[in-house]
Amino acid sequence: MIKGMNKIGLIFGLFVVSQLLVLNARAQNEQRYQAEYLTALKLIQNNLQTNGGTVAAPSHGNPDYFYDWVRDTSVTMKNLIEIAYDPKTDPATAKKLQIQIDLWVNWELGLQTAYQPPTDTQGNALYGLGEPRFFLSGFVNNNPWGRPQNDGPASRALAGITLAQIWIAQGRLADVTSRLYRMELPANTLIKRDLEYVAYHWRDPSVDLWEEEKADHFYTLTVQKVSLIKGAALARMMGDGGAADFYEQQSQLIDAKLQSFYDPSQNLIQYAININPMAHKSEKTTALDVAVLLAAIQTFDGQFYVPVAQVVATVQKLTDWFKNNYSINQVTVDPVSKMNLGVALGRYPHDQYDGISTQYQDAANPWFLATLALGEFACDLKAVGYKASTGLGSSPAELTQVAFNQFNRVLYHMNADGALSEQFNRDNGFEMSAPHLTWSYTSYLSAYRACF
Ligand code: NOJ
Ligand code: NOJ
Repeated sequence: MIKGMNKIGLIFGLFVVSQLLVLNARAQNEQRYQAEYLTALKLIQNNLQTNGGTVAAPSHGNPDYFYDWVRDTSVTMKNLIEIAYDPKTDPATAKKLQIQIDLWVNWELGLQTAYQPPTDTQGNALYGLGEPRFFLSGFVNNNPWGRPQNDGPASRALAGITLAQIWIAQGRLADVTSRLYRMELPANTLIKRDLEYVAYHWRDPSVDLWEEEKADHFYTLTVQKVSLIKGAALARMMGDGGAADFYEQQSQLIDAKLQSFYDPSQNLIQYAININPMAHKSEKTTALDVAVLLAAIQTFDGQFYVPVAQVVATVQKLTDWFKNNYSINQVTVDPVSKMNLGVALGRYPHDQYDGISTQYQDAANPWFLATLALGEFACDLKAVGYKASTGLGSSPAELTQVAFNQFNRVLYHMNADGALSEQFNRDNGFEMSAPHLTWSYTSYLSAYRACF
């Protein structure tokens, strides 16, 4: 009897110890995730300029990213605004970021109204608010480039609206009216200018976020739609009811258009439709692009603004492709930490851009921002209690595991000092292309905040 009890006691004891070890390993990993959050938050600040601009990466060649891209900066500032006004952020960092955010508003007001020559250096039209990138002097970059990129004003509006809502809650209405939103037309405040542009230009074909193809893009239209939904709510608060109605109507029209991106025969959302034949890239032989996943996470605010089951199906197909095509994905356990490694994701199947050229077949690599997007998406799915029998995971525990595996993948390839570049090599896993990419840090901050 006593012997028997001892045996049960022993088994129970071993069980408890093994559970503690699992918990301990998990706690250690969570500490590693947090350490990189703090490092990313520190390193990203090196890319913020004293004039309010942000460099995409502090790199002057191969690739030359020493410009302010409206997209990269907007996605970044939206996250930094949330961090700066989050009581969990340490006060010194919060203060510094709040000062930078103030400078950023002025910087963007400058970009919106900067003098623009009518054409680029080859005589092609420039596009005002649709211009994708600027010199750090605040002048438009008028080299021949993929333009317009109409996700820019929409993303900037999303960042601005986030800030306006915080300032309104703090009683800083005068700051909102002076720089962020005033109802008068022609618009001369940051958000109103962008919303007017989006509301009147979303039908225009646009070059995508990868700056490659002119078409109707799922990513661009989704950020445009959500900027108008949130813009309408802000407009109403600011007593601009007529504009609010108009923005809402336009967002519904965009929503109707977005329905046509789903291809039931393949069960996926096509990244684009109506691709301009002159712009179509021959290597893009599938309808898959991680841009669809980015559209889902960048607009998530506790609810999704995309058809979530269709995005899950699309992400599943993307994940399968990268699993099968990047040799680094055959390494599935970190030999040191023994943690499972998630899937390293790139931009789209058969991408050729390795940060220097697009000359070689299938030369491109996984991107940190794409790999982290999957982790963030899993946490967003968990937050809404998403359940599906197939796909990324059906229980909260499985979704957490998917997310942690993506963090593990990133920590496995990241430099020892926590620096994140744009890509990491598909065969040997080492960091490549633009070093200290602002958007890589942003995607880490954003994924971490979605999960913890
Ligand atoms: C540079 C762009 O930034 C990149 O996204 C693109 O793939 C290459 N040019 C090739 O068009
Ligand atoms: C190339 C990427 O494709 C594009 O999305 C980004 O805006 C620029 N690099 C700058 O990071």
